[in-house]
Amino acid sequence: MEVFDIYNGKTDVYGIIGNPIGHSFSPVLQNTILRRFNKNGIYVPFKVEGGDLKKSVEGMYAIGIKGLNVTVPHKRAVMNFLCGIDNTANKIGAVNTLKYTENGYEGYNTDILGLKKSFEINCIDVSGKRAMVIGAGGAANSAVMLFAEMGAAKIVIANRTIEKAEALKKQAEMFYSTDIEVISINDINNCEKPNIILNATSVGMGEGNNQSPISDNSLFVGVECAFDVIYTPWETKFLKDAKACGCTAVNGFDMLIYQGIASYEIWHDTKVSNFEAKEIRNMLAEYFNNGSGR
Ligand code: ATR
Repeated sequence: MEVFDIYNGKTDVYGIIGNPIGHSFSPVLQNTILRRFNKNGIYVPFKVEGGDLKKSVEGMYAIGIKGLNVTVPHKRAVMNFLCGIDNTANKIGAVNTLKYTENGYEGYNTDILGLKKSFEINCIDVSGKRAMVIGAGGAANSAVMLFAEMGAAKIVIANRTIEKAEALKKQAEMFYSTDIEVISINDINNCEKPNIILNATSVGMGEGNNQSPISDNSLFVGVECAFDVIYTPWETKFLKDAKACGCTAVNGFDMLIYQGIASYEIWHDTKVSNFEAKEIRNMLAEYFNNGSGR
């Protein structure tokens, strides 16, 4: 046995709040980043029930937790308990990163930054193109805003619940003049062919991992790129089917890694270089694909 002194009286605490939280990869990701840069910090998961959100955020601030990630189902509700919210997070209407300041926590959204970076490194360019987003939840929200920001010629939002897709269209139209169409997920094969299709539903993940939100694969024919925000399994049925039809297929792992790196940068007022980010990404991808991360 030896003395364990990685953590001591000066250790900064970071964490993630959500419910459920046991599946989260963020503790492994953030602790890896903290160790990589020799920070005296630790990152831990906190399961927080909806009714406890306010007192949890206040309590975490009171005990000096330096930074938090926020995941499902609190990304919207947490905005009520912050001292400030940055423009991007306001636009999206969701916060996934809290930074400790002397007035309270400030809120940011790094999901969109992670998605943007993932597009960049996977050479996905949507400017002037037709994009289809399947889903209308938090992930779809970031995707629609990013497509609009990147200058997509048209965005089609396909969702099971039309009202949610309409609400997302309305939110995006407050900031962008992009042509946005809402369709039912059942009519997905009846609209003009997109150049890029992004799955932002949870279909294909976990127990339903042999399912895809697309029932007729002819949709993929002629499409340049299929992106799935899911990364467990590494290759969803959606991506397998897309690949079989000749699309470039990209999963959500880079989005996950780069949203985490962006949160780290916000907490530490620093910039992680592309080289360092790639090194962290590759190390975690290897760990993940060896089965340790699942
Ligand atoms: P997240 O924040 O991760 O995007 P979410 O807000 O719960 O999660 O959104 C999940 C998305 O997956 C929603 O668009 C949901 O469709 P509804 O708006 O109709 O609920 C979609 N989704 C989940 N299960 C689905 C299923 N079996 N078939 C089709 N869409 C599904």
